[in-house]
Amino acid sequence: MNLASPASACMLEAPAKVNLTLNVLGKRDDGYHELETVMHQIGLTDKISLKRGGSGIRVGSNSPLVPQDEENLAYQAARLMYDKFALQAGLQIYIEKNIPVGAGLAGGSTDAAAVITGINDLFGLQLELNAMLELGARIGSDVSFCIMGGTALARGRGEILSPLAEGPELTFVLVKPDFQISTRAVYQMFRRENVASPPDTAAFLAAWNNCDMISIARKMNNVLESVSLSEHPEIMAIKHQLVELGAENALMSGSGPTVLGLFLSRRQAQQAFLQMQREYKESFLVFSYRKGGVNGGKAPHSG
Ligand code: C5P
Repeated sequence: MNLASPASACMLEAPAKVNLTLNVLGKRDDGYHELETVMHQIGLTDKISLKRGGSGIRVGSNSPLVPQDEENLAYQAARLMYDKFALQAGLQIYIEKNIPVGAGLAGGSTDAAAVITGINDLFGLQLELNAMLELGARIGSDVSFCIMGGTALARGRGEILSPLAEGPELTFVLVKPDFQISTRAVYQMFRRENVASPPDTAAFLAAWNNCDMISIARKMNNVLESVSLSEHPEIMAIKHQLVELGAENALMSGSGPTVLGLFLSRRQAQQAFLQMQREYKESFLVFSYRKGGVNGGKAPHSG
Protein backbone atom coordinates (compact mmCIF):
# COMPACT_ATOMS: atom_id res chain seq x y z
CA MET A 1 0.00 0.00 0.00
CA ASN A 2 1.35 3.38 -1.04
CA LEU A 3 0.51 6.15 1.44
CA ALA A 4 0.69 8.81 -1.28
CA SER A 5 -2.00 7.24 -3.45
CA PRO A 6 -4.23 4.97 -1.35
CA ALA A 7 -6.65 2.71 -3.22
CA SER A 8 -10.31 3.70 -3.09
CA ALA A 9 -11.73 0.18 -2.85
CA CYS A 10 -10.79 -3.38 -1.97
CA MET A 11 -12.26 -6.88 -1.82
CA LEU A 12 -11.51 -9.40 0.94
CA GLU A 13 -12.26 -13.05 1.64
CA ALA A 14 -13.53 -13.66 5.18
CA PRO A 15 -13.34 -17.36 6.19
CA ALA A 16 -15.54 -19.09 8.79
CA LYS A 17 -14.09 -21.00 11.75
CA VAL A 18 -14.95 -24.21 13.53
CA ASN A 19 -14.02 -25.20 17.08
CA LEU A 20 -12.28 -28.59 17.17
CA THR A 21 -12.25 -28.55 20.98
CA LEU A 22 -14.00 -26.18 23.36
CA ASN A 23 -13.68 -26.26 27.14
CA VAL A 24 -15.17 -23.76 29.58
CA LEU A 25 -12.85 -23.42 32.58
CA GLY A 26 -14.99 -21.10 34.68
CA LYS A 27 -16.95 -17.89 34.91
CA ARG A 28 -15.08 -14.58 35.07
CA ASP A 29 -15.78 -11.46 37.05
CA ASP A 30 -16.61 -9.57 33.83
CA GLY A 31 -19.47 -12.01 33.10
CA TYR A 32 -17.61 -13.79 30.30
CA HIS A 33 -16.40 -17.39 30.51
CA GLU A 34 -12.80 -18.49 30.60
CA LEU A 35 -12.22 -20.70 27.56
CA GLU A 36 -9.70 -23.16 26.22
CA THR A 37 -10.57 -23.88 22.59
CA VAL A 38 -8.88 -24.95 19.37
CA MET A 39 -10.15 -22.84 16.49
CA HIS A 40 -9.61 -23.74 12.84
CA GLN A 41 -10.36 -21.70 9.73
CA ILE A 42 -12.33 -23.36 6.94
CA GLY A 43 -12.86 -22.55 3.28
CA LEU A 44 -16.41 -21.26 3.62
CA THR A 45 -16.04 -17.54 3.03
CA ASP A 46 -17.98 -14.30 2.94
CA LYS A 47 -16.78 -11.73 0.39
CA ILE A 48 -16.37 -8.24 1.75
CA SER A 49 -16.00 -5.17 -0.41
CA LEU A 50 -14.96 -1.82 1.02
CA LYS A 51 -15.28 1.41 -0.92
CA ARG A 52 -14.21 4.82 0.29
CA GLY A 53 -16.57 7.69 -0.42
CA GLY A 54 -20.10 8.86 0.28
CA SER A 55 -20.98 9.99 3.77
CA GLY A 56 -20.77 7.95 6.99
CA ILE A 57 -20.33 4.20 7.30
CA ARG A 58 -22.92 2.22 5.35
CA VAL A 59 -23.50 -1.53 5.32
CA GLY A 60 -25.21 -3.49 2.55
CA SER A 61 -25.60 -7.22 1.99
CA ASN A 62 -27.19 -9.78 -0.30
CA SER A 63 -28.67 -11.44 2.81
CA PRO A 64 -31.72 -10.11 4.67
CA LEU A 65 -30.35 -11.80 7.82
CA VAL A 66 -27.37 -9.42 7.98
CA PRO A 67 -28.14 -6.30 10.05
CA GLN A 68 -27.38 -3.09 8.16
CA ASP A 69 -27.04 -0.89 11.26
CA GLU A 70 -24.83 -0.51 14.38
CA GLU A 71 -25.70 -4.05 15.43
CA ASN A 72 -23.50 -5.38 12.61
CA LEU A 73 -20.01 -6.33 13.86
CA ALA A 74 -18.46 -5.15 10.58
CA TYR A 75 -20.06 -1.74 11.13
CA GLN A 76 -18.78 -1.71 14.75
CA ALA A 77 -15.25 -2.54 13.58
CA ALA A 78 -15.31 0.31 11.04
CA ARG A 79 -16.74 2.73 13.63
CA LEU A 80 -13.97 1.79 16.11
CA MET A 81 -11.25 2.44 13.53
CA TYR A 82 -12.82 5.68 12.28
CA ASP A 83 -12.97 7.03 15.84
CA LYS A 84 -9.54 5.78 16.92
CA PHE A 85 -7.68 7.04 13.85
CA ALA A 86 -9.91 10.07 13.09
CA LEU A 87 -10.51 8.76 9.57
CA GLN A 88 -12.22 11.05 7.09
CA ALA A 89 -14.44 10.22 4.10
CA GLY A 90 -17.31 7.78 4.13
CA LEU A 91 -17.09 3.99 3.77
CA GLN A 92 -19.40 1.58 2.01
CA ILE A 93 -19.21 -2.00 3.25
CA TYR A 94 -20.86 -4.71 1.16
CA ILE A 95 -21.12 -8.22 2.62
CA GLU A 96 -21.76 -11.14 0.26
CA LYS A 97 -22.98 -13.57 2.91
CA ASN A 98 -22.20 -17.24 2.35
CA ILE A 99 -21.55 -18.25 5.97
CA PRO A 100 -24.79 -19.14 7.80
CA VAL A 101 -25.86 -16.53 10.38
CA GLY A 102 -26.23 -17.42 14.09
CA ALA A 103 -24.52 -20.73 13.36
CA GLY A 104 -21.45 -21.03 15.62
CA LEU A 105 -19.13 -20.35 12.64
CA ALA A 106 -18.02 -16.79 13.54
CA GLY A 107 -19.69 -15.36 10.43
CA GLY A 108 -20.20 -11.88 11.94
CA SER A 109 -16.76 -11.91 13.59
CA THR A 110 -14.92 -12.75 10.38
CA ASP A 111 -16.66 -9.91 8.53
CA ALA A 112 -15.47 -7.54 11.30
CA ALA A 113 -11.95 -9.00 11.01
CA ALA A 114 -11.96 -8.35 7.25
CA VAL A 115 -13.06 -4.76 7.83
CA ILE A 116 -10.19 -4.17 10.28
CA THR A 117 -7.55 -5.52 7.89
CA GLY A 118 -9.22 -3.83 4.92
CA ILE A 119 -9.35 -0.38 6.55
CA ASN A 120 -5.75 -0.80 7.68
CA ASP A 121 -4.82 -1.25 4.06
CA LEU A 122 -7.23 1.22 2.42
CA PHE A 123 -6.16 4.06 4.69
CA GLY A 124 -2.47 3.10 4.78
CA LEU A 125 -2.51 2.83 8.59
CA GLN A 126 0.33 0.28 8.63
CA LEU A 127 -0.83 -1.29 11.90
CA GLU A 128 1.12 -4.29 13.24
CA LEU A 129 -0.73 -7.60 13.55
CA ASN A 130 -0.87 -7.29 17.36
CA ALA A 131 -2.54 -3.86 17.14
CA MET A 132 -5.22 -5.29 14.83
CA LEU A 133 -5.73 -8.33 17.12
CA GLU A 134 -6.29 -5.98 20.03
CA LEU A 135 -8.83 -3.91 18.09
CA GLY A 136 -10.57 -7.13 17.06
CA ALA A 137 -10.90 -8.29 20.69
CA ARG A 138 -12.85 -5.13 21.48
CA ILE A 139 -15.48 -6.08 18.90
CA GLY A 140 -16.00 -9.73 19.90
CA SER A 141 -14.31 -12.75 21.41
CA ASP A 142 -13.71 -14.51 18.04
CA VAL A 143 -12.58 -11.50 16.00
CA SER A 144 -8.87 -11.68 16.92
CA PHE A 145 -8.70 -15.32 15.80
CA CYS A 146 -10.40 -14.43 12.52
CA ILE A 147 -7.70 -11.80 11.90
CA MET A 148 -4.85 -14.18 12.75
CA GLY A 149 -6.32 -17.20 10.96
CA GLY A 150 -5.00 -20.73 10.52
CA THR A 151 -5.38 -22.93 13.60
CA ALA A 152 -4.87 -21.66 17.14
CA LEU A 153 -5.38 -22.52 20.77
CA ALA A 154 -7.47 -19.69 22.20
CA ARG A 155 -7.72 -18.84 25.89
CA GLY A 156 -9.22 -16.04 27.96
CA ARG A 157 -12.49 -14.92 26.34
CA GLY A 158 -11.09 -16.47 23.15
CA GLU A 159 -8.76 -13.58 22.34
CA ILE A 160 -5.48 -14.92 23.84
CA LEU A 161 -4.07 -16.86 20.91
CA SER A 162 -1.29 -19.40 20.50
CA PRO A 163 -0.90 -20.32 16.82
CA LEU A 164 -0.62 -24.04 16.10
CA ALA A 165 1.32 -25.84 13.39
CA GLU A 166 -0.47 -25.93 10.05
CA GLY A 167 -1.48 -29.56 10.70
CA PRO A 168 -3.26 -31.84 8.26
CA GLU A 169 -5.76 -30.56 5.70
CA LEU A 170 -9.17 -31.55 7.04
CA THR A 171 -12.32 -32.44 5.13
CA PHE A 172 -15.66 -31.55 6.70
CA VAL A 173 -19.32 -31.79 5.94
CA LEU A 174 -21.07 -28.95 7.78
CA VAL A 175 -24.79 -29.06 8.46
CA LYS A 176 -26.71 -26.11 9.85
CA PRO A 177 -30.25 -26.93 10.96
CA ASP A 178 -32.89 -24.34 10.16
CA PHE A 179 -32.68 -22.34 13.39
CA GLN A 180 -30.23 -19.97 15.05
CA ILE A 181 -28.77 -20.11 18.56
CA SER A 182 -27.87 -17.16 20.75
CA THR A 183 -24.30 -17.53 22.01
CA ARG A 184 -25.13 -15.48 25.08
CA ALA A 185 -28.06 -17.76 25.98
CA VAL A 186 -25.93 -20.92 25.65
CA TYR A 187 -23.24 -19.53 27.97
CA GLN A 188 -25.89 -18.44 30.45
CA MET A 189 -27.32 -21.96 30.58
CA PHE A 190 -23.94 -23.68 30.77
CA ARG A 191 -23.32 -25.72 33.98
CA ARG A 192 -20.01 -27.50 34.46
CA GLU A 193 -21.68 -30.29 36.42
CA ASN A 194 -23.67 -31.24 33.29
CA VAL A 195 -20.49 -32.01 31.32
CA ALA A 196 -19.89 -35.78 31.21
CA SER A 197 -16.26 -35.61 30.03
CA PRO A 198 -14.46 -32.38 29.18
CA PRO A 199 -11.98 -32.22 26.28
CA ASP A 200 -8.45 -33.46 26.80
CA THR A 201 -6.88 -30.45 25.12
CA ALA A 202 -3.30 -31.65 25.67
CA ALA A 203 -4.10 -34.95 23.94
CA PHE A 204 -5.77 -33.09 21.08
CA LEU A 205 -2.70 -30.87 20.64
CA ALA A 206 -0.41 -33.91 20.62
CA ALA A 207 -2.60 -35.51 17.94
CA TRP A 208 -2.58 -32.25 15.98
CA ASN A 209 1.19 -31.92 16.08
CA ASN A 210 1.55 -35.56 14.94
CA CYS A 211 -1.05 -35.09 12.17
CA ASP A 212 -2.70 -38.19 13.68
CA MET A 213 -6.11 -37.96 12.00
CA ILE A 214 -7.77 -40.75 13.99
CA SER A 215 -6.77 -39.21 17.34
CA ILE A 216 -7.69 -35.71 16.13
CA ALA A 217 -11.16 -37.02 15.33
CA ARG A 218 -11.47 -38.91 18.64
CA LYS A 219 -10.35 -35.95 20.74
CA MET A 220 -12.76 -33.45 19.16
CA ASN A 221 -15.05 -32.38 22.01
CA ASN A 222 -17.18 -29.32 22.82
CA VAL A 223 -18.64 -28.83 26.32
CA LEU A 224 -21.30 -26.44 24.99
CA GLU A 225 -23.01 -29.49 23.50
CA SER A 226 -24.18 -30.14 27.09
CA VAL A 227 -26.51 -27.14 26.66
CA SER A 228 -27.44 -27.14 22.98
CA LEU A 229 -28.02 -30.87 22.56
CA SER A 230 -30.58 -31.04 25.33
CA GLU A 231 -32.31 -27.88 24.08
CA HIS A 232 -32.28 -29.01 20.43
CA PRO A 233 -32.34 -32.82 19.94
CA GLU A 234 -32.06 -32.23 16.17
CA ILE A 235 -28.37 -31.44 16.68
CA MET A 236 -27.80 -34.91 18.13
CA ALA A 237 -29.73 -36.46 15.24
CA ILE A 238 -27.45 -34.68 12.73
CA LYS A 239 -24.34 -35.90 14.60
CA HIS A 240 -25.60 -39.48 14.36
CA GLN A 241 -26.49 -39.10 10.67
CA LEU A 242 -23.01 -37.79 9.81
CA VAL A 243 -21.31 -40.67 11.64
CA GLU A 244 -23.60 -43.17 9.92
CA LEU A 245 -22.59 -41.61 6.61
CA GLY A 246 -18.92 -42.24 7.36
CA ALA A 247 -17.69 -39.30 9.44
CA GLU A 248 -14.86 -40.31 11.78
CA ASN A 249 -16.50 -38.02 14.36
CA ALA A 250 -19.11 -35.25 14.41
CA LEU A 251 -19.22 -32.25 16.71
CA MET A 252 -21.19 -29.07 17.24
CA SER A 253 -19.16 -25.93 16.45
CA GLY A 254 -19.00 -23.16 19.09
CA SER A 255 -22.42 -22.55 20.64
CA GLY A 256 -24.06 -24.20 17.62
CA PRO A 257 -26.23 -25.19 15.99
CA THR A 258 -23.90 -26.12 13.09
CA VAL A 259 -22.52 -29.67 13.23
CA LEU A 260 -19.22 -30.57 11.57
CA GLY A 261 -18.52 -34.10 10.45
CA LEU A 262 -14.80 -34.86 10.00
CA PHE A 263 -14.15 -37.28 7.12
CA LEU A 264 -10.98 -39.17 6.29
CA SER A 265 -12.16 -39.89 2.75
CA ARG A 266 -13.10 -37.08 0.37
CA ARG A 267 -15.26 -39.43 -1.66
CA GLN A 268 -17.27 -40.40 1.39
CA ALA A 269 -17.54 -36.74 2.39
CA GLN A 270 -18.88 -35.87 -1.05
CA GLN A 271 -21.52 -38.61 -0.80
CA ALA A 272 -22.48 -37.57 2.75
CA PHE A 273 -22.77 -33.95 1.64
CA LEU A 274 -25.13 -34.86 -1.21
CA GLN A 275 -27.21 -36.93 1.19
CA MET A 276 -27.42 -34.28 3.93
CA GLN A 277 -28.17 -31.54 1.41
CA ARG A 278 -31.48 -33.25 0.55
CA GLU A 279 -32.68 -32.60 4.10
CA TYR A 280 -30.71 -29.47 5.08
CA LYS A 281 -30.24 -26.76 2.47
CA GLU A 282 -27.46 -25.23 4.54
CA SER A 283 -25.06 -28.15 4.10
CA PHE A 284 -21.50 -27.59 2.93
CA LEU A 285 -18.51 -29.68 1.85
CA VAL A 286 -15.49 -27.69 3.04
CA PHE A 287 -11.76 -28.07 3.61
CA SER A 288 -9.27 -26.35 5.87
CA TYR A 289 -8.55 -22.79 4.77
CA ARG A 290 -4.84 -23.00 4.15
CA LYS A 291 -4.10 -19.45 3.09
CA GLY A 292 -3.70 -17.96 6.60
CA GLY A 293 -5.82 -15.13 8.01
CA VAL A 294 -8.40 -12.87 6.47
CA ASN A 295 -7.95 -12.71 2.67
CA GLY A 296 -5.38 -15.48 2.85
CA GLY A 297 -2.91 -13.21 4.61
CA LYS A 298 -2.44 -11.29 1.35
CA ALA A 299 -3.04 -7.60 0.75
CA PRO A 300 -6.66 -7.13 -0.34
CA HIS A 301 -7.39 -6.74 -4.06
CA SER A 302 -7.41 -2.98 -4.50
CA GLY A 303 -9.15 -0.87 -7.06
O1 C5P B 1 -17.73 -11.76 22.59
P1 C5P B 1 -19.00 -12.07 21.88
O2 C5P B 1 -19.82 -10.84 21.64
O3 C5P B 1 -18.82 -12.88 20.65
O4 C5P B 1 -19.82 -12.98 22.88
C1 C5P B 1 -21.22 -13.12 22.79
C2 C5P B 1 -21.73 -13.52 24.16
O5 C5P B 1 -21.30 -14.84 24.48
C3 C5P B 1 -21.23 -12.65 25.29
O6 C5P B 1 -22.08 -11.55 25.48
C4 C5P B 1 -21.26 -13.59 26.48
O7 C5P B 1 -22.57 -13.66 27.01
C5 C5P B 1 -20.97 -14.95 25.85
N1 C5P B 1 -19.53 -15.32 25.98
C6 C5P B 1 -19.05 -15.73 27.21
N2 C5P B 1 -17.72 -16.08 27.33
C7 C5P B 1 -16.90 -16.04 26.27
C8 C5P B 1 -17.37 -15.63 25.01
C9 C5P B 1 -18.71 -15.28 24.90
O8 C5P B 1 -19.78 -15.78 28.20
N3 C5P B 1 -15.63 -16.38 26.41
